[in-house]
Amino acid sequence: MKVNSTYIVDVVDDDINGNGIARIDNFVIFISSALKGEKLKIEITNIKKRYATAKIIEIIKSSNDRINIKCSKYKDCGGCSFLHINNNYEDKIKINYINKLFNINENKIYSDSEYNYRNKATFHVNNNIIGYYSENSHKIVSFDKCLLLDERINNIYNYFKNIDLKDINEVIVRTTKSDIMISIKSNNKIFDYNDLLKYYNINSIYLNNKLIYGEKYIIENINDKKYVIFPDAFFQVNRENMIIMYDIVKLFASKGDKLLDLYCGTGTIGIYLSDNYNSILGIDINNSSIECANINASINMLNNIKFIAGDSKIAKTDNYDTIIVDPPRVGLSKEVINYINNSKCKKIIYISCNPNTLKKDLELLNNYSLEDLKIINMFNKTKHVECVSLLKYRS
Ligand SMILES: C[S@@+](CC[C@H](N)C(=O)[O-])C[C@H]1O[C@@H](n2cnc3c(N)ncnc32)[C@H](O)[C@@H]1O
Repeated sequence: MKVNSTYIVDVVDDDINGNGIARIDNFVIFISSALKGEKLKIEITNIKKRYATAKIIEIIKSSNDRINIKCSKYKDCGGCSFLHINNNYEDKIKINYINKLFNINENKIYSDSEYNYRNKATFHVNNNIIGYYSENSHKIVSFDKCLLLDERINNIYNYFKNIDLKDINEVIVRTTKSDIMISIKSNNKIFDYNDLLKYYNINSIYLNNKLIYGEKYIIENINDKKYVIFPDAFFQVNRENMIIMYDIVKLFASKGDKLLDLYCGTGTIGIYLSDNYNSILGIDINNSSIECANINASINMLNNIKFIAGDSKIAKTDNYDTIIVDPPRVGLSKEVINYINNSKCKKIIYISCNPNTLKKDLELLNNYSLEDLKIINMFNKTKHVECVSLLKYRS
């Protein structure tokens, strides 16, 4: 087999990265944007020791689950692995992947949004061109509109596309249901925003981390609670699926006396559960998120919730009824694993945006067994999938 050689193959499986899998003389070939059941003419693009990668040259027999790709930049960008697949089949691939990984038999994936769900985008600038970084590189990909973004973010992106960007390095746009925030990194200490304000209802503009227009933060309303968001504070990017996820967490957590919310971000989960527990402590390493969390507790008039800025490993054993962890993609640190194993806490809720580190951490949390796991398609059209797992203490 050689790079650039072509073959006719039958696709026998799909993977979580949006590839179809075929075999040539038992050698595995991952074919970008292919689907199980398809017959394809492919060209080999790379050969490794145990597998090769390929691209489609011609679709000889197409899958019924294939749909027209609605984005002309999807190959350059690389952010959406499932744009060629209908939503039901994407769900099926993600459910199968999680079931196999955890040896479970879930048949549902929760989601409330297919497109236009992202409330945050980071645009980079190079040579006066603004766009996303292409996957695994710093090549700028510009586009007309990104199918995943809130339309207000697409419109603001198009505004920036049409101005002189020579001093600008980065533009971050965040939205809530009612508000818009823009944070700009620039070599210039001045940014003329008057034109921008003529066209868009912007609530807050930061330049090089300094507020230059409007409010210090934007506000998201969910049910009867308000949440403030500073430019560099964490907030879930898909509001509708976040609510679905928090409702699952609420169901798993039910009611109790003491709750510990590790990796709490802006305190959203603790605040969402504040009616169900007598006292709640949230810990997060990001000072700006904790500043938001404290404002959130105050504007929602909650006095049963406290937040501490620091590493989750500073948590102390305090007879918690429930511990929630929602770490970044790398998963839990050794110290947090030890802390939980020794905590004797009856119930752990582990929220994860990386099923592989969740799997590894569940094996290390050997005082706990997996009781339930719900799958959320938090990031439709991408290869990512979110899990909420309920662990019970092995007494
Ligand atoms: C996936 S977010 C979870 C946020 C929150 N649970 C929510 O739903 O909005 C992960 C959070 O972990 C925080 N973080 C990362 N490393 C940490 C550490 N070592 N200790 C505490 N927090 C950490 C980040 O600042 C981020 O807010």
